[in-house]
Amino acid sequence: MYIALLGRQPALGIAELERSYGKVRWFSSHSALVDTDSLHFERLGGSQKAGRVVAEFASGDWRTVSQKVIRAYTAAWADVDYKITLGISAYNFPVTGRDVQHTGILLKKALKAKNVSLRLVPNDDAALLSASSHHNKLGLSANKVELLIIKGDDGSVKVAESIGAQNITQLAARDQKRPRRDAFVGMLPPKLAQMMVNLAVGELGNGNHAPENRSAAVTEQHLQPEHIEEMHGVKPLRKNSSRDGDAKTRLTILDPFCGTGVILQEALLSGYNVRGSDLQDKMIEYTRENIDWLKRTFRVHADMTSLDVADATKYSWGSKLPIDAVVAETYLGQPFSAPPSPAKLQEVQRNCNHIIGEFLTNISKQLKPGTPLCLAVPAWRSANGSFTHLPLTQNPERFGYSRVQLSTVAPSDLLYYREDQVVARELLVLVKA
Ligand SMILES: C[S@@+](CC[C@H](N)C(=O)[O-])C[C@H]1O[C@@H](n2cnc3c(N)ncnc32)[C@H](O)[C@@H]1O
Repeated sequence: MYIALLGRQPALGIAELERSYGKVRWFSSHSALVDTDSLHFERLGGSQKAGRVVAEFASGDWRTVSQKVIRAYTAAWADVDYKITLGISAYNFPVTGRDVQHTGILLKKALKAKNVSLRLVPNDDAALLSASSHHNKLGLSANKVELLIIKGDDGSVKVAESIGAQNITQLAARDQKRPRRDAFVGMLPPKLAQMMVNLAVGELGNGNHAPENRSAAVTEQHLQPEHIEEMHGVKPLRKNSSRDGDAKTRLTILDPFCGTGVILQEALLSGYNVRGSDLQDKMIEYTRENIDWLKRTFRVHADMTSLDVADATKYSWGSKLPIDAVVAETYLGQPFSAPPSPAKLQEVQRNCNHIIGEFLTNISKQLKPGTPLCLAVPAWRSANGSFTHLPLTQNPERFGYSRVQLSTVAPSDLLYYREDQVVARELLVLVKA
């Protein structure tokens, strides 16, 4: 069992987890429990941290929980012969950074009495920022540990050992250091592109397409069942293997509105083969340059099998090259810095609905039944925070698709936007009927 601390838009984060791992449920408004033996954290776009659950308590205030943690880890680490770096993060408890730090100091003292040396990562707040966890490499080796102590909405508590925090340095580099960006076609954040790839591919992606190029989170089981009374019988941890995706078995993802290629980039990094197309030859050139840069900068074994200038409403992608999933940020219409007039909104909405509807009809004939899609389509936010949606989102069946049903979120929750944005991205997760 793993627990994930979800990102800024928790509904998207939990949807990504549910599609990827199936058995997922909310634990608190910002965390989710994932019933799996191994979690490929580095592939997730919508979780800030994740950890393997090592203990749970039916209820508990911070003092009681922290005493149990101190006792358990004093026993678990009594014989280690290396220096431990420890971070502690508390979520959903009414405590300050000082309170959490105090727990760490008591544990450090108890271990010192046993000649075990521990460096404590300072807490400015009850929970360490992902940036701090990442920079301290917490969760990535046996001697660098972060304990995630989380109170659920039902009052119960989970203690987890982190397997890593979002690699913000690499995400920023993938966003800002690529040679070609284009403010007009938009700046799809790499995290959102990762989520979209996972929302489309779902559990299909877990078997044979693990990334070869990202650091696998390697953790060791520190806490043994006898160290903590309420410990559940967790299975021994398997290392998150970094399996070499076999080229023949790699899934191929198509982005028919590829723009500057952010989705293709993230799909390649996750070990998928990619195909791209776009109406504008300039965009195809940009994608080519960006992917060349990606291959020079990161280790990428998957391949770009085709890149074409093509109108997605008419193009035939050809049956020789397979399409296993379609992931695209489609045409979003013009950008707005303030909500448009009703007449303008209707015009843009009609135009986008027409282009995306034509595309759905065109590609539907070319996809095998069961092919998954994740499409970002526009939804416009009014001044009072309500949304105007594309009419086609109401019945994708008309175009030959069914919606993927999720148990943790409603389709209307899959909206990505910042507070200052008028044009939100609505994520449609579909399957070719
Ligand atoms: C919102 S942008 C996608 C940006 C992309 N995610 C990126 O990484 O840069 C939409 C893209 O769709 C392309 N486009 C618009 N109409 C199209 C059509 N009918 N067929 C194919 N591409 C189209 C535009 O040229 C633009 O690059």
